[in-house]
Amino acid sequence: EKDLIVLGIETSCDETAASVIKNGTIILSNVVASQIESHKRFGGVVPELASRHHVEQITIVIEEALKEAGLTLSEIDAIAVTEGPGLVGALLVGVNAAKAIAYTNNIPLVNVHHIAGHIYANRLIKEMTFPLISLVVSGGHTELVYMREHGEFTVIGETRDDAAGEAYDKVARTLNLPYPGGPHIDRLAHEGKPTIDLPRAWLEEDSYDFSFSGLKSAVINTLHNANQKGITIDSKDLAASFQASVIDVLVTKTIRAVKEYKVKQVLLSGGVAANKGLRTALEEAFNEMPDVDLVIPPLNLCTDNAAMIAAAGSVLFERGKRSDLSLNANPGLDI
Ligand code: KG4
Ligand code: ZN
Repeated sequence: EKDLIVLGIETSCDETAASVIKNGTIILSNVVASQIESHKRFGGVVPELASRHHVEQITIVIEEALKEAGLTLSEIDAIAVTEGPGLVGALLVGVNAAKAIAYTNNIPLVNVHHIAGHIYANRLIKEMTFPLISLVVSGGHTELVYMREHGEFTVIGETRDDAAGEAYDKVARTLNLPYPGGPHIDRLAHEGKPTIDLPRAWLEEDSYDFSFSGLKSAVINTLHNANQKGITIDSKDLAASFQASVIDVLVTKTIRAVKEYKVKQVLLSGGVAANKGLRTALEEAFNEMPDVDLVIPPLNLCTDNAAMIAAAGSVLFERGKRSDLSLNANPGLDI
């Protein structure tokens, strides 16, 4: 049978990314041009700056991905592009590049949801076994997604305020750590002890939703109150306490969902999946549940990349999904 070669394009936030994958699972190239250095001095992603960088980088990144894969456009069977959610000006660059290439080379186009991409990053590591649950934790999303089969996504819980990554980045800013703050808090947390009592938002007993803004405020208040009293708080212990609270809620709700939905597999997805504390806590928890297969992608597949978009796009393409040239960026797209 003929191989399926898919070119993935991702520009939803601050990484310009292109990748070529084979048969939905084999990475031939995975090119990511990060803009983090440009946004750092502003303490977060500046949308207009992101769009401009994408415009500058997109052609170079796509050409590089094809070159590394040793392929030309005539050998590409489909183009998968992130349609949303994300920054509209950023998404537009990828969507328009994908449409232009698809049109001029007569290649089918498939629109992909960014979160579907994060989930399918796992398929680049291991075949999916259904039913499964994915814990999606990124800068923009915190969701528990149930999948009965390929291409079917049911959100059983989501954040009611801040995303987990957003909470990490805001707490990091309070501690004067550079953007993005997640990795810095993670590092500090491992040097400290969770000695400071911080809240855990469990919400209603049966809810799979999350809430992190109260925790974030508690961290800010703890620092503020200490400053006023002239007490110094060890930022390592504060980071460790914050991280313990986030992980406690994420892991506890994931395990409850795994049991209730009787899933065979758990997939960790999104930028916060790079968190060492979260990875270890999940590994320890699922060691006790040998019937459930825990999959955790390597760090470069957790943060934004285009291989994950190509991976999701490959499955959707095989299931017959196509987009036409009326495709538009959709910043608030539902999964
Ligand atoms: O998935 P991603 O690259 O972009 C979005 O789609 O949002 O996720 C970026 C987020 C940022 O908030 C960043 O601080 C967080 O992932 N992150 C981490 C770690 N590495 C990245 N958060 C906690 N611990 C980490 N090690
Ligand atoms: Zn993402």
